[in-house]
Amino acid sequence: MGPVLRLHTGAVAQTRAVAAALAELVRPGDLLLLAGDLGAGKTAFTQGFGAALGVEDRITSPTFTIANHYRGRLELNHLDVYRLEQLDEVLDTGIHELLDEGGVTLIEWGDAILPALPASYLEIRFLLGIGDDDRTLDVIPVGDLWAARLRALRAALAPWAETGATGGGDAGEPSC
Ligand SMILES: Nc1ncnc2c1ncn2[C@@H]1O[C@H](COP(=O)(O)OP(=O)(O)OP(=O)(O)O)[C@@H](O)[C@H]1O
Ligand SMILES: [Mg+2]
Repeated sequence: MGPVLRLHTGAVAQTRAVAAALAELVRPGDLLLLAGDLGAGKTAFTQGFGAALGVEDRITSPTFTIANHYRGRLELNHLDVYRLEQLDEVLDTGIHELLDEGGVTLIEWGDAILPALPASYLEIRFLLGIGDDDRTLDVIPVGDLWAARLRALRAALAPWAETGATGGGDAGEPSC
């Protein structure tokens, strides 16, 4: 597991803005895992992410389907595996085929299906804060693809970094 960038947002609009900043860094085939507390903002994040990719359709949580697909600058695949009980069920949904298709895939509760996922992904762990609108977002680059983008990640996310760092996100760890 790579270093954690800890972010703080104090309003849903800020979480959407974090997502928009990340959307500028993604490449075809990328995977983002959205994990953490119920109602903490995983779907709100996806909405901000999609808007930044130019998705015009309203993004809602996939309820009756496992995956929703949206057309933007890149195709956006939005999955929510909260209700999936068995890994077999996940494998049957063809996640690997989806990832190979060149879109960007966001999976809510994706940490529940790690054995079904590739070695490189960006995990974002959402935690409820003290105030109603306070959220902590831990951004965890996993695998080579994201480790190589650590510097860019730090820079893009510096405005929300909990340390208040603004100079490229140097939060104490040696830069790569
Ligand atoms: N700082 C914040 N960031 C994100 N959402 C926030 C924030 N402050 C308040 N909210 C509100 O919290 C709710 C988050 O709901 P959302 O559906 O995005 O959560 P979720 O993590 O997808 O939930 P679930 O686990 O049920 O899928 C929204 O109503 C949003 O307006
Ligand atoms: Mg959700």
